[in-house]
Amino acid sequence: MMQTSVPKSEKTPWTRTRRWWIWLMLFLMMGTLMFIFLYPTTEILRPLRTSSASSNNITTVYNCFVAYPHPYRFIVDEPHRCWQERPFLVLMIPVAPHNREARDVIRNTWGKETTVQGHVVSYYFLLGLSGEGEGSEVLEEQLLQESRRHHDMLQSDFMDSYKNLTIKTMVMFEWLNSHCPNTSYAMKVDADMFLNVHNLVYMLMTAPRHLFMTGRVARGSAVLRDHNSKWFMPVSAFPESTYPPYAMGLGYVFSMDLPIKILEASLQIRAIYVEDVYVGLCMRHLGVTLTDPPHSGLFRESRPYFAGNCYWSSVITTILQDSDQLWDVWGIYQTQVLNGC
Ligand SMILES: *[C@@H]1O[C@H](CO)[C@@H](O)[C@H](O)[C@H]1NC(C)=O
Ligand SMILES: *[C@@H]1O[C@H](CO)[C@@H](O)[C@H](O)[C@H]1NC(C)=O
Ligand SMILES: *[C@@H]1O[C@H](CO)[C@@H](O)[C@H](O)[C@H]1NC(C)=O
Repeated sequence: MMQTSVPKSEKTPWTRTRRWWIWLMLFLMMGTLMFIFLYPTTEILRPLRTSSASSNNITTVYNCFVAYPHPYRFIVDEPHRCWQERPFLVLMIPVAPHNREARDVIRNTWGKETTVQGHVVSYYFLLGLSGEGEGSEVLEEQLLQESRRHHDMLQSDFMDSYKNLTIKTMVMFEWLNSHCPNTSYAMKVDADMFLNVHNLVYMLMTAPRHLFMTGRVARGSAVLRDHNSKWFMPVSAFPESTYPPYAMGLGYVFSMDLPIKILEASLQIRAIYVEDVYVGLCMRHLGVTLTDPPHSGLFRESRPYFAGNCYWSSVITTILQDSDQLWDVWGIYQTQVLNGC
């Protein structure tokens, strides 16, 4: 091939520099845009915060373990209801003591679904103690009134806090084990969830009755070593770099032979504060594998942007922004059912 020589004299050093700058700027802009679109904002901020935090020796003062096992007692209870009603499925809903609104929304939406295909379904709210200080006695009195009115509340005497969710889950297993001898399945479901009780019962009607746990199963999740992470875990508390499979805490279902087994396993494994991971650790100790749902669209983390016309009548769970949103979503779901979805 012949080489054609380009006249070099046409470009001054100035134009070459300018052109170089324009390319550099374009490159930087493209890079920044790609970074912003590919990573959620928290990921961008994380490295900045890590550097300042790792200089403080937080690990030594940070306690990842919770006070469990411990003989907690239920101070608000429904000692005979589950025994008498013999539900096929019990829904257990952890909720903060002050969050009356969330309880009322559920009572008027998916909590109303008490029979599906002749199978009895019941629900209970799980509470701990609201801290001490002003207003706590008033709140406690209101909780007692609410309980007398609805008979759907269980309150145990540990301090209700985010870091104590593992305690809440474990007292849930204790309560189920000692109060529901004739129940086939239970589900732990968060209060800010949409729950399609019909689809759940239909799925369970053909599910295994023993050693069964399903939901959104996380596999190979990395253990977060950043102090600023909501789920920070130091090497001293959990040395492995990934967690064993676990059912994500937003909503998981299990056969009623599991609570006693998980409680037994918990005597061998120190309780960490990440509630769903801890149940996963107990499951691994028991050698029980988690089951994936019949299809992946049933337990959803969030509603897809392009949700179909029959979305709410085709899923089992979806996380909502807050429990307020459940009022609207429930209306849409009812319309979809009426329209033959
Ligand atoms: C943090 O404190 C512990 C115990 O005092 C010590 O062993 C460890 O080396 C410290 N880590 C850092 C990064 O200073
Ligand atoms: C968890 O509950 C226990 C028992 O009530 C309490 O001693 C502890 O302070 C609580 N922890 C947090 C972080 O709330
Ligand atoms: C209920 O549970 C008890 C104790 O486990 C058992 O003896 C009984 O047969 C069960 N009844 C029904 C109707 O399943």
